[in-house]
Amino acid sequence: MCGIVGYVGEQQALDVVVDGLRRLEYRGYDSAGVAVLDATGPRLQIERRAGKLANLEAALAQGRLAGTLGIGHTRWATHGAPTDRNAHPHTDCSGAVAVVHNGTIENFADLREGLEARGHELTSDTDTEAVAHLIEERYAAGEEGDLAAAVRGVCASLEGSYVLVVAHRDHPDLVVGARRNLPLVVGIGDGENFLASDVTAFIAHTREARALDQDQVVELRREGVVVTDLDGVEVGGECFHVDWDTAAAEKAGFDYFMLKEIQEQPDAVRDTIGGRFGLDGRLRLDELSISDEDVRGFEKVFIVAAGSSYHSGLVGKYAIERWCRLPVEVEMASEFRYRDPVLDRHTLVVAISQSGETADTLEAVRHARQQRAWVLTISNTVGSSMARESDAAFYTRGGPEIAVASTKAVMTQLAAVYLAGLYLAQVRGTRDPDEVRSHFRDLETVPALITEVLSRMDATRKLARDLSGEERVLFLGRHVGYPMALEGALKLKELAYVSAEGMPAGEIKHGPIALIDKGTPVVVLATRHALQAKLVTNIQEIRARGARTIVIATDGDETVIPYADHLIRLPDTKSLLSPMLTLVPLQVFAAEFAMARGLDVDQPRNLAKSVTVE
Ligand code: G6P
Repeated sequence: MCGIVGYVGEQQALDVVVDGLRRLEYRGYDSAGVAVLDATGPRLQIERRAGKLANLEAALAQGRLAGTLGIGHTRWATHGAPTDRNAHPHTDCSGAVAVVHNGTIENFADLREGLEARGHELTSDTDTEAVAHLIEERYAAGEEGDLAAAVRGVCASLEGSYVLVVAHRDHPDLVVGARRNLPLVVGIGDGENFLASDVTAFIAHTREARALDQDQVVELRREGVVVTDLDGVEVGGECFHVDWDTAAAEKAGFDYFMLKEIQEQPDAVRDTIGGRFGLDGRLRLDELSISDEDVRGFEKVFIVAAGSSYHSGLVGKYAIERWCRLPVEVEMASEFRYRDPVLDRHTLVVAISQSGETADTLEAVRHARQQRAWVLTISNTVGSSMARESDAAFYTRGGPEIAVASTKAVMTQLAAVYLAGLYLAQVRGTRDPDEVRSHFRDLETVPALITEVLSRMDATRKLARDLSGEERVLFLGRHVGYPMALEGALKLKELAYVSAEGMPAGEIKHGPIALIDKGTPVVVLATRHALQAKLVTNIQEIRARGARTIVIATDGDETVIPYADHLIRLPDTKSLLSPMLTLVPLQVFAAEFAMARGLDVDQPRNLAKSVTVE
């Protein structure tokens, strides 16, 4: 989703801002722009362009914008097409105010109407431009040149979600930021300070950061940062140190971030499961304000998530139901709250989100808390909105995931749902401590097994290249293989734009088998588990109808050999943990298939990394 950068300091702002925007490219965008303050004018110099950053940079090459204060934006269109005219920054009537914005202003039509009635001329289709004009009005009347006060006043009149970052030509040492519902982080430097949608934008300059809370406004100057609430009262807040370095956020020699992130999975899982037992020998969560008594009072669990995170949630259902004997429902976050689910003080809602900012999931969290349910967030982003608004948080320590299509985040989410299941089992006493330990030890063996799988992927890559001309691929699985069949299909859709469908292998005979024609590629997740014999029957059924079968099977399993046109072998593991191994060939297959079609696997068309609108 939109990326925002703000800077004030001694460096040329243009370099810092454009570099920051490049690091935020992974969020997905379709236009980009910058404003740099020329203090001698004084005037705001603005350049904005539809398309990728390269278009903006080409325009900037015509004449560099000099100055040490700047703001920048990558836009993912919500109001108005992705054109030059709608790209941010937006200005007021006189060009004194420049605003960049992430989010949607829901009362924008009324605001715009009022502004036009009062004589303002709006030149774009965006909700953002209205904000620039509202600041202009407040700044001139009432606030007497106090930019932060003007922004606070305007924020109070806005409905919806926003991050706003504002510069004014009369303030060569002030950038003002504000947030509601979406993330804005301050980077604290020495004689320079930064604002950004996330820390990735400024970690090349500073690793000290502070996340703004709901409805806070920040005044950013060279020598310091002041944060207030909407009434202008200064508020305290915690700074945190960012562990990631710039190298962690770069490609490390791979052609695509996605390929690097696939390779990082063994370490990502190791980091996620490391140090999880306290001195008392008990498994613990990262942040917890739910008492053991309340955990024992849970009668039902809902897991809510979107996209790939939803597939991790489906696996979580198997783990929690097996170990805790608690009923679990898994639901797409976008559907959850609108059907008025039955929630109460005895319900646990587990929200799974890499970013912790996905609007659908965040709203589901808010709804659950309004209904007095307990909420546990599993997220890769410390201090994300979801984590902050939940009763408990479990952080997957996967490091920054830059490629839009999720890989290592899903892998670490799988580890996290197993650990969450074991945590619940431990507190509720449904599994004794030795058994919890023993399942944990099984999980500890997984990183080395993932490394082993990664070392065997050459044949899978070749197969993907051979099949890359196909326009339709089916994925079948049973039990915990079914969510991974969904994930394998989603990866292929996202990356290669082919029609891919994941389904339960037992269900195919009830309709989807009609799709099978001579040569239809069907990937079957057939690693060893209790339903193995039934799955082998399903493979025979589709092969008899002409399918070209690609079977993912456990080392040494002979039963599938007669029915596999192509065989992908994986090491053995406990069947409940098998998704962490089957996931790897599915990721590699989709990436290679898409690259063979000449596609950019880091930034697939139409997709955003973090979708912050409903
Ligand atoms: C977007 C991304 C998906 C991701 C989903 C959920 O749609 O393109 O890859 O799975 O959001 O994101 P989250 O950050 O909530 O896990």
